[in-house]
Amino acid sequence: MSNVELMPASVAPAQPDVAPIATPASVPPEMILDVRDLKKHFPVKGGLLRRTVAHVKAVDGVSFAMQRGETLGLVGESGCGKTTVGRTLLRLEKATAGEVWFEQRDILKLPSGQLKGLRRDMQIIFQDPYSSLDPRIPVGESIAEGLLIHGIGSRQEREDKVREALLRVGLHPSSMQRFPHQFSGGQRQRIGIARALVMEPKLIIADEPVSALDVSVQSQVLNLMRELQQEFGLTYLFVAHNLSVVEHISDRVAVMYLGKIVELADRKQLFSVSRHPYSKALISAIPVANPKIRRQRIILEGDVPSPLNPPAGCRFHPRCWMAQEICRTVEPPLEEKVPGHWAACHFANDVAASLPKK
Ligand SMILES: Nc1ncnc2c1ncn2[C@@H]1O[C@H](COP(=O)(O)OP(=O)(O)O)[C@@H](O)[C@H]1O
Ligand SMILES: [Mg+2]
Repeated sequence: MSNVELMPASVAPAQPDVAPIATPASVPPEMILDVRDLKKHFPVKGGLLRRTVAHVKAVDGVSFAMQRGETLGLVGESGCGKTTVGRTLLRLEKATAGEVWFEQRDILKLPSGQLKGLRRDMQIIFQDPYSSLDPRIPVGESIAEGLLIHGIGSRQEREDKVREALLRVGLHPSSMQRFPHQFSGGQRQRIGIARALVMEPKLIIADEPVSALDVSVQSQVLNLMRELQQEFGLTYLFVAHNLSVVEHISDRVAVMYLGKIVELADRKQLFSVSRHPYSKALISAIPVANPKIRRQRIILEGDVPSPLNPPAGCRFHPRCWMAQEICRTVEPPLEEKVPGHWAACHFANDVAASLPKK
């Protein structure tokens, strides 16, 4: 994996205004997704006239690229903008700014009439499949819904595909006739996965797919996702609020804080030598199974500030034990500190050795 390919593109030369079908020279074919300076600001209305009085900067300049077949974990506390990144990539939300190159097309510029193919190639798995499955219709119909919308196959062929998908996720084909409430949480998530899988997608955005499940069931679903990835060459953007979940499934990890990526690295690199104090604090919160290993838990002071009015300078500085004067005034850019390891911290190289005073 060369580093140049995985460079977040905000630091790559700016692209001229290119047509959606054109191939920019800097997106190599092995890259499936290249997100450049993506922003999503939600307007906040106020007053009698319901004018826009402020903006929630839910996603505020996010750049990352993904290689075909990899799993990128996207992690950060609740409210930092992970779901909004996913929804904007899928064009379920209209981006405020930025580019999203998916297989050499800037999909933010695709006219809505051309979204159909994209909707097939990019699928989403939700945290709570119960709310995304219609309780009144048999799960077979829910799984077949996408096929029907896209006019794929005859009735019989669709049924065969659903049966196959159910088997592939470890459910009996007779599940087709049953209703969502007849399944356990883990089984319902398998149905959610079958529904994505049946479309034969290239990229799956999994938004906290195991966060609502018991720990024992979590690992079964994670193992299933990994098997399916190998079998079908899937690419996963795996969203979680908890680093311990992505630790085992991700090839690389991106850590988000208040609308921005603050660190992006190979999983092992990130866990062994963190270069952002926020990631270090998240890692310190992971329970360690081995009693011989002791890790000082870093308790962050205060809450996540509001994305309505993020702190000046480094957004993390009010909670950071390493903060210096420069952090209050100058925003650190996301930079490649060592090959393949990106961090947005003025003191990135000191993070690994630093701990808050007790
Ligand atoms: N439709 C919306 N309108 C206004 N604000 C929103 C909307 N959706 C999300 N937000 C805000 O954007 C921020 C990021 O939310 P979200 O992407 O759901 O974070 P996460 O998935 O990391 O928990 C939060 O402050 C949330 O309140
Ligand atoms: Mg979310």
